[in-house]
Amino acid sequence: FHVPVAVNEPVKSYEPGTPEREEVLLTYKDLWNANTEVPLYIGSEEIKTGDTKTINPPHDHKHVVGTYHLANKKHVEKAIAESLEARKKWSKLEWEQRAAIFLKAADLIAGPYRQKMNAATMIGQSKNIYQAEIDSACEICDFLRFNVEYMTQLYNEQPESSEGCWNRVEYRPLEGFVYAITPFNFTAIAGNLPTSAALMGNVAVWKPSDSQMLSAQVLMEVFKEAGVPDGVINMINGDPEMITDTVLASPDFAGIHFTGSTDVFKGIWSKIGNNIQKYKTYPRIVGETGGKDFILAHPTAKAKQVATAISRGAFEYQGQKCSAASRVYIPKSLWPEVKDFVIEDVESFKMGSPEDMTNFINAVIHESSFDKLASYIDKAKKDKNAEIVVGGNYDKSKGYFIEPTVILTTDPHYTTMETELFGPVVTIYVYDDKNFSEKKWIDICETVDNTSIYGLTGAILSGDRYAAAQATDLLQNAAGNFYINDKPTGAVVGQQPFGGARSSGTNDKAGSKMNLMRWISVRLIKETF
Ligand code: SER
Repeated sequence: FHVPVAVNEPVKSYEPGTPEREEVLLTYKDLWNANTEVPLYIGSEEIKTGDTKTINPPHDHKHVVGTYHLANKKHVEKAIAESLEARKKWSKLEWEQRAAIFLKAADLIAGPYRQKMNAATMIGQSKNIYQAEIDSACEICDFLRFNVEYMTQLYNEQPESSEGCWNRVEYRPLEGFVYAITPFNFTAIAGNLPTSAALMGNVAVWKPSDSQMLSAQVLMEVFKEAGVPDGVINMINGDPEMITDTVLASPDFAGIHFTGSTDVFKGIWSKIGNNIQKYKTYPRIVGETGGKDFILAHPTAKAKQVATAISRGAFEYQGQKCSAASRVYIPKSLWPEVKDFVIEDVESFKMGSPEDMTNFINAVIHESSFDKLASYIDKAKKDKNAEIVVGGNYDKSKGYFIEPTVILTTDPHYTTMETELFGPVVTIYVYDDKNFSEKKWIDICETVDNTSIYGLTGAILSGDRYAAAQATDLLQNAAGNFYINDKPTGAVVGQQPFGGARSSGTNDKAGSKMNLMRWISVRLIKETF
């Protein structure tokens, strides 16, 4: 099987004077005033239930940019029924037809829908244009195109046959429907979770984050224009518990593709366990959840490189990446230099609304996130074993703005070294590297390994190859995506498949053949002559 070779969608610059900059600003303005109404997308219908919530930009929370409609139980049941109806034809469609639809969706996003995707993400999720472009333009295209390539690689894999006997496998979709739950922080995840299952011939009931409704709607427009048939991807929102309970009560529930919090995922897993006798199949459970991602510097690391890993790894998109660095271990000998560089970097970051493209830091997603972050910052201001190195101010009068904040602690198990905060707050522990030895390096690696229940991303920075190799070995399960001499964020589809272990997820690597394999049920046919 041959398909167009996938290549990463080039990132546009948005420098002053470029056409893309003008276009995205105009689109932003239009969308800001459009009063968008987001319906439920169920089968061929766009349903306006009349039960609505407003959509407010996190950086200007009194402004209303639109509303979204909420589903009740009957709507959820209808979405399931429509998906199963659509499955009858979709699951039998030739793989080339499915591939063509999603390749077209990628081209629509790369072309005519690019700035609408970006503007929706900038407004609804408070993301600066550079971060929006990487996410809602490039990464979505990459997921769609690389998944098509991975699918064809998979379909090419066939068992050996022998004389008089022909063995072959059929890559069949799951028997039922897939439930996709996606978070606010990457529009690309919303672009990947329902579509990767659908590409493999499945139908999906998709619940986006209610903090992502603008970009979710643009995605649905793209899917429709690309030719995704009615009922193949149904989008609903509403009370999350009611939706999940209704979905999980269906005997046709065949799998969940989830990105979100650890607690929610564990709760869903328990419910699936409790319902197991109901289901026709063993549902596939695929999830990427929380993180407490680390940077560990060896005394031979370069101070500037460590500082950049911290300021970019912890503060891009206000630290609201599951991969964001949030605990850092630095040797005492490097700290004064690292500290100066970090302060310089952080003080150069401008904070404000994304329509001013010089603002690197925008708002955090909502009030409860703001309040949580503010309370941990206040605690650090009071605690004896913590101090604020830079940042520490916050203001929610107009938008949910939290200054990028660096906390220094003398306790490697200080609360913000262990608790996931999901925002622009990073905590640094400075370890003693006087008379440094292999034993001390092993000790600090073990501290990194034992401090968190998570295992998503981590980075070590070291000029010493033996120390890097040792850390790589000692921290085997501490990070599903492990970076040497880099920041722990910014995985690129087609290059670094993404996912974590421990309480960070099932490690089925978004954007990989491994992930696609979870959405098929293989039939082996042995035929003798
Ligand atoms: N894929 C993103 C990153 O690597 C996180 O979701 O930063």
